Amino acid sequence: MNKKRICGLICVIFIAGMTTTSLLVIALNGREIVQDVVVQNPDGSKGTVFVVFRPGLTGFNQDIVNEYIRGLIASDWRVEVTTSSLQTPTNVTTYDLIVLGSPVNGAKPHESMLAYLARADFEGKPVVLILTSGFVGGPGLGVFENATTDANGVVISEMQFQIFEADARSRAYAAGTEISLGT
Ligand SMILES: Cc1cc2nc3c(=O)[nH]c(=O)nc-3n(C[C@H](O)[C@H](O)[C@H](O)COP(=O)(O)O)c2cc1C
Repeated sequence: MNKKRICGLICVIFIAGMTTTSLLVIALNGREIVQDVVVQNPDGSKGTVFVVFRPGLTGFNQDIVNEYIRGLIASDWRVEVTTSSLQTPTNVTTYDLIVLGSPVNGAKPHESMLAYLARADFEGKPVVLILTSGFVGGPGLGVFENATTDANGVVISEMQFQIFEADARSRAYAAGTEISLGT
């Protein structure tokens, strides 16, 4: 086989590999992830927080949300956690605070989070937004905030964590310990 043919073959294999990987990422990233509501620190004295998050492909969003929850529990909140899906409860009457965690996908929160927000009515309750991203900044947080406001949520805190940020986990934990309904 001459050099030209070998280069052509390598190109075809490379393009096929990239296409397959992209399709796999899109399929995995778009799949429905249903998780029962799990109660943590059931006797928490500060009030009950409802946490809805979207576990992503790298586990970064889940790590950050878990650190935030650890902070909430250190401050003695009762926490109920689930994922954003078609099964996520939309009745938030029994909750004092709502925390939403989503990765940025294409400059927006994950589709499952936006679909949940389109169905939910937060009844004017306080909401904390946690967005994780590959890059710094971008319009994701603004889209998240608008969708939450449209769901009758009052955003009292919004944070973005970038995947390469060295102290992201400790910042998330500290934010969980610091949140109060007076802020
Ligand atoms: C399909 C897809 C689209 C993404 N789009 C963006 C984007 O527009 N802006 C950005 O900063 N990060 C983007 N990212 C990176 C993710 O937001 C980041 O890796 C994620 O927050 C890590 O958490 P996770 O793996 O738990 O989802 C994208 C990731 C994927 C898989």
